[in-house]
This record gives sequence, structure tokens and C-alpha cells, in this order.
Amino acid sequence: MAATTLLEKAFDVLTAVRDAASLKFLAAIGDPVGLIESTAHTSDAGAVHDRIRRLGPLTRSRTGMYVASSHELCQQILRDPRVGVRHSDGRESLPDESRYDADNLLLDSFLSLDDPDHARLRRLAAPGFRPAVIRTYAARIEAVANRLLDRVEDAGHFDLIGDFAGPLPIEVISDLFGIPDVNRTRFAEIGNVVAQSLDGVTSYRQARELAEAHRELIGLFDVLSAERRVRPGDDVISMLVGATDAGDMTADDLHATCALLLIAGFETTVNLIGNAVSAMLAAREPWEQLVADSALADNAVEESLRLEPPVQLTSRVTHEPITLCGSLIPTDSTIVVDLAAANRDPAVFDDPSAFRVSRANAADHLAFSSGVHYCLGAGLARLEGSIALRTLSQRLPRLRTVDGGRRRHGVTLRGFASLPVSSS
Ligand code: HEM
Repeated sequence: MAATTLLEKAFDVLTAVRDAASLKFLAAIGDPVGLIESTAHTSDAGAVHDRIRRLGPLTRSRTGMYVASSHELCQQILRDPRVGVRHSDGRESLPDESRYDADNLLLDSFLSLDDPDHARLRRLAAPGFRPAVIRTYAARIEAVANRLLDRVEDAGHFDLIGDFAGPLPIEVISDLFGIPDVNRTRFAEIGNVVAQSLDGVTSYRQARELAEAHRELIGLFDVLSAERRVRPGDDVISMLVGATDAGDMTADDLHATCALLLIAGFETTVNLIGNAVSAMLAAREPWEQLVADSALADNAVEESLRLEPPVQLTSRVTHEPITLCGSLIPTDSTIVVDLAAANRDPAVFDDPSAFRVSRANAADHLAFSSGVHYCLGAGLARLEGSIALRTLSQRLPRLRTVDGGRRRHGVTLRGFASLPVSSS
């Protein structure tokens, strides 16, 4: 092994030990940021988020960050025009969690920009997500869901993530982008590498893989854009290329927007399907209710988003001093908005830790955030989730988990790496 690689490894190990020790200490003394970090390795993250909310609607961490956790306060912050996603010096809202320059494409996307740039770029991508456009995807999603189940039905055992929840959204995004079949597997692999970096890049190897994935992704977007310029279609890339040629967005904006749509729409939807099936099979009654009445699928998706949100938290920065819960929060303060805690707030949801398929206000969750950054793909995610649950429950009513599955270790994105199930 080369000397530099050995040194890199030693540095990784030492820094990981130091970071883990300081976060463990923070969690042990009940610091809200320490507690949030501890959810990466726990199967019951909900209990930790409940504990954070019980500390009070707004708490200050020893790290200097604030944590908002009641439903009312989280919603208020997300809708407050005095609060944004960038510091006054241009940094993004969270202090850089990674020790490596991750060259993060998402930091340049409109998810990470404040108005007016955010509004300008979001407006250009929005036509591709109008309800009338999303509805046209239903038949195609259903066909993909059925084709994936055809492959596993006879086997009896399969991996819900690898065989179903994973491939479904990647097929849908590939359609949205007009990606040819030959590139789809590699496209999915790149999407995985980039999505895994959302919780911070923690090793040189990951940093290298990420840089490589970015290069490849940009290359792929360039090839697709060149093709669409010659032969425009009704896909999102054609629409964005048109906006670039009209001078409404730069080539960098185009790359960042494509990367955002890929990453925001891929891993999150995989986790929605995986988390929903896992939670419903664990409680069993919700699953039996869905099997008996597939019209419950839409609300089952909302209840799952509430109880097991694929995106557990986001963050914001104060652009001026504001008073929250009686405390004056200075300009440029980072506020972690604990969406998972808000979704389990007993002030809004009765018996919040129970999965109730018919919960009347399940859709009041904040899993898609709120305010100007409200998820642009929410309609598409809801449609994919609902078709996935309906198809699964109709075709495999006796579905059950074989074991607890293997979770991904993330703080922001929560879901399974694999979930073995049996259909007989
Ligand atoms: C269950 C699946 C999904 C969940 C839980 C989810 C969640 C979220 C959340 C929480 C945000 C806002 C973050 C913040 O306020 O800081 C967001 C933004 C966004 N999402 Fe989703 N998302 C999902 C699926 C999708 C899909 C399928 C797409 C598109 C293909 C998509 C595209 C976007 C975009 C473009 C934004 C940025 C909006 C903006 O900044 O104005 N999402 N999503």
C-alpha cells in the first residue's frame, strides 16, 4: 500500500474516532444535535426525535446550532421569509459536515439557493411537475411495478429494496430525463454514490468516488443535452436545454438542476416505499386493511411519510435577528428543523407513534417540508408510493418480512439498504 494511502487511512480512522467520541459525549449529556447524530445507528429513531421534542420546541445545542422540533414552530420557520438556506457569507445553512471538499453539486442547485435565484430556477423546472404532467406517468409506473413483481413472484423470497423499491424510482426518473436503457444501471449507481454523500463525506475513498460520480454525471447530462438540442422531446432535459438556450439559465445551472432532480427524486422515493412496507408489515393490521381496500393506498403513503419520513430533517439560517419562543435568535444562526419530531407531535396527531392507515390528518406532516422549498416532486413521489403499495398489496397479500432488514446509516435520509421479504 502506498505511503499516502496508509496516511490517508490513519487520518480517517483518527478523525472518525475523535468525531464519534465528541458526538457520543453530546448525546450522553442530552444535547439535541448529539441526539440527532445518534439516530444514524438506532432502529428506533422516532423515540430519539420524541425525546428531542420533549426538550422543548426550540433548544440550543452546545455546537451553537438551534434545533426546532414542534410541528407549529417547524412550519413557522420553514414559511418565514426572514429565514433562508444560505449564510450571509454565501455558505450553505449547515456548517460543512464533511472533512473533505466534496465538490457537492447540490450546493449549487436551487434547493440550496435563496430567492430570487431560487425562485427563478425553480420556475424553470416546475412545468415538468405540473399535476397534469405527473398524471401521465401513472400507467408507466404501474407497468414497471408489475414487471418488477413478475420477476420475483415465483421465487417466494426477494429483497424489497434491491428488487422493487430501488429499481422503480430509477426507471421513473430515467423516463423523466429520457435516459436510454443502456445507461440506466450506471445512472442508478452514480445516483447512489451521490445520495450517500448527503450525510457528509467521511473518507478519502468516498470523496474520490464522489468526485468521479460528479464528473460522470455531468458528462452524461452533456451527452443528453446535446441529443435533445438536435431532437427535442417532452422530457425534463429538453425543457431545461430550451431554457439554457433562451439564456434563462447557465450551463452550470443546468447541471445542478439535473443533479438535484436525480438525487432528490431517487433515494427518497426508495426510502418511502421501503419504510412504508416495513412499518405496515410490522404492525400487520394496516397491511391487512390495505389488502382489503386498496383505495387506502393514498392515505397509507401519507401516514408512512408522517411516521417514517425519508428526509428526517433540514436546516435554515436566520437572515436577520428574529424572536422564536421568546428568545432572540441572532442573524446567521443555523436552525436544524427536525421534521421527524414535528411529524410525531401529539399536539397535532393523536397517538402519534401508531401507524393508522385511515388517520384523517395524516397529510398534515412536514415530510415534504413547507414554504418556498416545499418538495417540487411531492406529487410524483405520492403517485409512485401509492402505485407501489397498491400493486404490492394486491399481488402479494401474504407478504411478510423475513428479518428486520439492514438499515442505511444516515441521519438525514432514513431507509433500508435491504429488506428481505417472503410472499408465500
Ligand atoms: C418520498 C419522496 C420524497 C421526499 C420525502 C422528499 C422530500 C423533500 C424535502 C423535505 C424537500 C425540502 C428540503 C428543505 O426544505 O430544505 C424537498 C425538496 C425538493 N424535492 Fe423532494 N422529496 C421526495 C421526492 C422527490 C422527487 C420524486 C423529486 C423529483 C423528481 C423531488 C424533487 C425535489 C426538488 C427539486 C426539491 C427542491 C425544492 C426547492 O428547493 O424549491 N423530490 N424534497
